[in-house]
Amino acid sequence: MSDNIQKLDEKIAEAKLGGGEKRIEAQHKKGKLTARERIHFLLDEGSFEEIGMFVTHRSTNFGLEKQQFLGDGVVTGFGTVNGRLIYVFSQDFTVMGGSLAEAHATKICRVMDLAMQNGAPLIGLNDSGGARIQEGVVSLGGYADIFYKNVRASGVIPQLSAIMGPCAGGAVYSPALTDFIMMVEGTSYMFVTGPNVVKTVTHEEVTSEALGGASTHSTKSGVTHFSCANEIACIENIKALLSYMPQNCEEDAPSLAYDSADESRMNLDSVIPDNATIPYDIKDVITEVVDGDSFLEVHRDFACNIVVGFARLAGKSIGVVANQPAYLAGVLDIHSSNKAARFVRFCDAFNIPLLVFEDVPGFLPGTDQEWNGIISNGAKLLYAFSEATVPRITVITRKAYGGAYDVMNSKHIGADMNYAWPSAEIAVMGAKGAAEIIFRKEIKEAADPEAKWKEKEAEYAELFANPYNAAARGYVDEVIKPHQTREKLIKAFKMLENKVDNLPRKKHGNIPL
Ligand code: HXC
Repeated sequence: MSDNIQKLDEKIAEAKLGGGEKRIEAQHKKGKLTARERIHFLLDEGSFEEIGMFVTHRSTNFGLEKQQFLGDGVVTGFGTVNGRLIYVFSQDFTVMGGSLAEAHATKICRVMDLAMQNGAPLIGLNDSGGARIQEGVVSLGGYADIFYKNVRASGVIPQLSAIMGPCAGGAVYSPALTDFIMMVEGTSYMFVTGPNVVKTVTHEEVTSEALGGASTHSTKSGVTHFSCANEIACIENIKALLSYMPQNCEEDAPSLAYDSADESRMNLDSVIPDNATIPYDIKDVITEVVDGDSFLEVHRDFACNIVVGFARLAGKSIGVVANQPAYLAGVLDIHSSNKAARFVRFCDAFNIPLLVFEDVPGFLPGTDQEWNGIISNGAKLLYAFSEATVPRITVITRKAYGGAYDVMNSKHIGADMNYAWPSAEIAVMGAKGAAEIIFRKEIKEAADPEAKWKEKEAEYAELFANPYNAAARGYVDEVIKPHQTREKLIKAFKMLENKVDNLPRKKHGNIPL
């Protein structure tokens, strides 16, 4: 072997060692993989091509000239996941805590540019102490360069972020600008200001885990879409998620081969309880309708009154949005509106058709909701559906009351096909409340007000608590038996496959943020 080749081999070995064996050991002791191990598990075997392996920082501040590491704390490049091209950066905590400065940021920006130019997803594996303190403003500038590119790439290519260690300060905003965030339980956290600053400013004592761990962000804030038991589960989740997405906004998501079979699903005929006040689990409906084992729920533990996720129907990717009667009766509130709106916009941006299951008693009343802006937040969901140009189908399983009827992908806001089950109740409000308002005087003056109320409630229910008024107007295209749902949806989505719907020319809309 020539000296030149030997020198190259030595340099490659040095780069692959990151911050050194001791630090790799420390990383493993914390239950974490290294940056390179993560890439190894994510990409198809032998597909990774590294870019910028020998890049180093140029700073000489605070003795940094003596601490040069090949790669500058981030491994970047491209490869394939299940045969499809992706770009990846993986921060190396063993090198100066994975801290980000000029060279580190430039490497990330380079793969972001390539991902944009070549129309393929970008995966960020984050494990970093944040801005490299010794490099000062160039570290901050590096973050801002990444944020800017995150925004430019938004809606063009899917961007996924996995948080596999610390992610603090302004560093949180790059993942926050991407489409999906997943966190690893017990070893990752995200916060704008850490426990020490919190204590100084608000005198609150809180641990990193409670302040910004995976459980906090998957249940309380909704910042993370997936909370994963360990790093391998997190990586598998990235692969699963990618399988539902196209490479970029110009393409369709990949389809799986599908042989048509008996599509009737008899179990659905007995899902809806006889009593309209008794809940049922909408996930039983979703899993029965979509292809077996294809439902990948997003935001599973946040705003559980609405369920969103990816699935396949006859082998094709769809996005599912469904009210959940088993949680808060499926009411729409601030969190559920935001959750669903963001999901709808992702699907629309990436040509993934939308399927909506509707069973909603209305918007959640109360000062908490009003004072925190249910008006503008509820409007986000209305906006997201109205703006979406992908094929959109709604199935009303039970309640479709009030403004929520309009918001949940009604015909009026552009849904392509609307089905209702015979159990559907499509009205301004429930029969009991409606009778109380419109027959108040009559009820009050009756010899037996309670009996009168019941009589009027029944009268209102007879007239409106059914799907037939809506069907008579064409607001519902067809009243179907529940067991026919899957078959009807397969046919309807096939019919809509070549849908073209262009928004009016504009710079961009102004969603009520
Ligand atoms: C330079 C850093 C660093 C940083 C960690 N290191 N963070 N070096 N800049 N931001 C170095 C440590 O000095 C240490 O080096 C090595 O990485 C490992 O760190 P440890 O502290 O030993 O690890 P651990 O105990 O696991 O603690 C991890 C940590 C802690 C919680 C992340 O290192 C920490 O608090 N770091 C500072 C976090 C921070 O304040 N970052 C700036 C946030 S503001 P040696 O050689 O001693 O082993 C920000 C602004 C972005 O990011 C703005 C964008 C708009």
